[in-house]
Amino acid sequence: MSARFDPQQMSPGQIYDLLANLIVPRPIAFVSTMSNAGARNVAPFSYFMLGGIAPPSLCFSPVRGRNGERKETLVNIEETREFVVNLVDRNMVEGMNVAAGEYPGEVDKWELSGFTEVESERVRPARVLESPASFECRLHQIVSHGDGPGSTAYVIGEVLLAHVRPDLVSAAQGAGGFLPVARLGGQDYFDLAACGTFSLQCPPAVMPPQTYEAVDNSDE
Ligand SMILES: Cc1cc2nc3c(=O)[nH]c(=O)nc-3n(C[C@H](O)[C@H](O)[C@H](O)COP(=O)(O)O)c2cc1C
Repeated sequence: MSARFDPQQMSPGQIYDLLANLIVPRPIAFVSTMSNAGARNVAPFSYFMLGGIAPPSLCFSPVRGRNGERKETLVNIEETREFVVNLVDRNMVEGMNVAAGEYPGEVDKWELSGFTEVESERVRPARVLESPASFECRLHQIVSHGDGPGSTAYVIGEVLLAHVRPDLVSAAQGAGGFLPVARLGGQDYFDLAACGTFSLQCPPAVMPPQTYEAVDNSDE
């Protein structure tokens, strides 16, 4: 008999552990945005998926923080309706992790994480030079679900232009052969190129894994 978990009897931390440990592996969108005032930002999101083909779309989800605060990425996209999704491989992981931290507003996460900006062609936010593939996106729609801590906003973007590293492009296949790093549960990642897992401590402000008891309601 399988163990049952009832979200209505679990804390947000327990639900996070349940879902994030089981819905794996998750590719990582390293999202570049800009505020109306021109402040640049970059941050990783593993609640991320291919959305559709015609029109081409993708979707990622910034969830609200512990105090119900919205991520800067979401605020910027609401303001400008533009963003760039950069895919992540093993070479980018340490810098990406730095950009997941919460810092005072004046801190420039581009500078801190050490990535190189390349001007985009169809949107204002820059793309990441070190990324194997980047997608310039225009916002299609934001779908909110809930409004407290842990609630989400599905950011659906239409892909206006893709940039792919030359070694991942062939005449026969178009784009192919990309071996990303994917997010597993806890602090764990899977490196497809090395065919192995590794762990990386999140910056302090990122939601930590929590221990909990399974909800024992199997006799209901
Ligand atoms: C690998 C990785 C994946 C993450 N995925 C998500 C995610 O899907 N949704 C989310 O809200 N936060 C996610 N985070 C945490 C955010 O990156 C973090 O809250 C960051 O501070 C947001 O930055 P911003 O406020 O500048 O947008 C992730 C962190 C890491 C390290």
